[in-house]
Amino acid sequence: MIERIVTAKADNPDDGDEPQIEATLRPRDFSSYIGQDRLKENLKLAIAAAKKRGEPLDHILLYGPPGLGKTTMASVIANEMNAQIRITSGPAVERPGDLASLLTNLSDNDILFIDEIHRLHRTVEEVLYTAMEDFKLDIMLGKGPSARSLRLDLPHFTIIGATTRTGSIAAPLRDRFGMVHRLDFYTPEQIELIIKRAAKILNISIKPKAASIIAQRSRLTPRIANRLLRRVRDYADINGDGIIDEPLSLKALELLDVDELGLDPADRLLLAAIIDNYRGGPVGVETLAAITAEERATIEDMIEPYLLQIGLLERTSRGRKVTPKTYSHLKKTKTDSNEQSKLV
Ligand SMILES: Nc1ncnc2c1ncn2[C@@H]1O[C@H](COP(=O)(O)OP(=O)(O)OP(=O)(O)O)[C@@H](O)[C@H]1O
Ligand SMILES: [Mg+2]
Repeated sequence: MIERIVTAKADNPDDGDEPQIEATLRPRDFSSYIGQDRLKENLKLAIAAAKKRGEPLDHILLYGPPGLGKTTMASVIANEMNAQIRITSGPAVERPGDLASLLTNLSDNDILFIDEIHRLHRTVEEVLYTAMEDFKLDIMLGKGPSARSLRLDLPHFTIIGATTRTGSIAAPLRDRFGMVHRLDFYTPEQIELIIKRAAKILNISIKPKAASIIAQRSRLTPRIANRLLRRVRDYADINGDGIIDEPLSLKALELLDVDELGLDPADRLLLAAIIDNYRGGPVGVETLAAITAEERATIEDMIEPYLLQIGLLERTSRGRKVTPKTYSHLKKTKTDSNEQSKLV
């Protein structure tokens, strides 16, 4: 599978420096965390109240498409609470024993961040229920007739769970979070600010107009904005004097094949296939998966949310369909004959 520059998924840590750069660029407190204003207001209130009462923060579930700042927000919350944060993920906690050792090693007020919490194993999830609710851990000692269960007191910790799919979180788990918040796509103006902030940290000189052009193509997603900025910087270093201005950013983005709405050839292929083969839809998500040779989950979590957000795709009870905006956008961008052939 070709690596897509506009995917909201983080690069694999084995083949790139993206994870380190993301860590450098990660805002540390509410004031440098741009956007998500309602979420920030709610959290500020909850944090102030918890501090005033001298209690740990309620458990928090953050959900939304990848790259919007869930992990970042978890570390901001920890900072603002002056709390320690431990980070793990659903698939990493394989057995109840793994969870037990994570929880017993926490102190009061610590935060345990569980990324991809929808991928926790059932057996682990059940142990987590009582832990979150009563700060108790039930463990079984021994096996067979001599087995007995032991109840351990746990420190008063906070769980922050993150997921790209709320639909797949079991209701009993979801109900144990005092706060459940969705992260929204950013506005282009907010993305522009994020780009300017990243440029400053990475010592990149960029003209305001160029920042706005890159922002327009970043799919309203900070991770993609930061990635495009770095790719355009590469181009500017090689083909210019390192300063990113309007003409240079346009050329770089053209080379990267990212259009004015942040679509790449794979997105355009998907939309064109719905138009050409299914008269604009509606088509089921399984069909979209077959067209693009992507997994259903990838379509639902990574590709579709942005297309829905900008109105190039619509969800109906009978499936997904394109909109008049899709037709006009594809007409506008269908100039390259090379791409035409890719589209059929
Ligand atoms: N509000 C923000 N302001 C500035 N930069 C941000 C903001 N949110 C995210 N970023 C940047 O985007 C990058 C990706 O964010 P983050 O890793 O928190 O996303 P995520 O929602 O956890 O993604 P995933 O679902 O893949 O885990 C971060 O490195 C950070 O630099
Ligand atoms: Mg994350």
